[in-house]
Amino acid sequence: MNADRFNPNDDTIAKDASTIEAAAGGPIDIAIVLGSGLSNALAAHADFTSITYDRLLGIPVAPLAGHAGAALIGTMHGKRVVAFAGRVHMYQGFSAAQVTVNVRLAHAAGAKTLIVTNAAGALNSAYRAGDLMLIDDHINLMGANPLTGARLDNPFTDMMHAYDPGLRGIAKDVAGSLDDERVREGVYVGLLGPSYETPAEARYLRGIGADAVGMSTVLETILARTFGMKVFGVSLITNVVGAPETTHAEVMHEANLAGPRLAAIIDGVIEKI
Ligand code: HPA
Repeated sequence: MNADRFNPNDDTIAKDASTIEAAAGGPIDIAIVLGSGLSNALAAHADFTSITYDRLLGIPVAPLAGHAGAALIGTMHGKRVVAFAGRVHMYQGFSAAQVTVNVRLAHAAGAKTLIVTNAAGALNSAYRAGDLMLIDDHINLMGANPLTGARLDNPFTDMMHAYDPGLRGIAKDVAGSLDDERVREGVYVGLLGPSYETPAEARYLRGIGADAVGMSTVLETILARTFGMKVFGVSLITNVVGAPETTHAEVMHEANLAGPRLAAIIDGVIEKI
């Protein structure tokens, strides 16, 4: 029977996990999800073997520019790493289960830590394009949850410290040692998209406590916490919501510019964990 790329069973995920582990030379320690425009960011820090998603059996493939699709496998500071360069989003029509297959695969390959990145719009008026925001909590407004209908003994995942305070502390130290003064800490709200926010929505999101808004990450974090993985999340602020208009080109441009700073922080965190 052919594997179903859009509804992979555990055998398919296990096969993909062995493909990744074989390329890594053993079980994976750390999985990284690289958000929009960030696919190339880590290249300066490791020699990666690239396995394009079409060579994995269970990863859904998406067409949007800037979302290259490959698992980058390598060693950083003696730790085996897989970086997913490209993810699919619910706004493309994928389900919560499909957008979190990367996390399922990372877990199957042994990863105990998930580093999740994204491009996000600022709601906090103190933020500027090019800032990095260490995610200290999230609000899930995607209208979906990867645990819905999942066959789990206990789907009631605790989300108290979803973004690991220890990893965030390490990241703050790393940012300090890199003299990167544009690193913030804040709350990420995940929306379905793909339209950007109206001014009224932006006011509402700020009012409920969000500092940055995007269309990913929260579902991956939920599944990673269900698996007991530690999560470190970073948003790259690519635009300020409503100032005056948000375009996909602007988001990609800022992501490319700030990518190396984000990669340096990730590299420093990996060194210290
Ligand atoms: N809104 C939602 N998602 C985003 C934005 C935004 O302004 N920028 C980058 N991703």
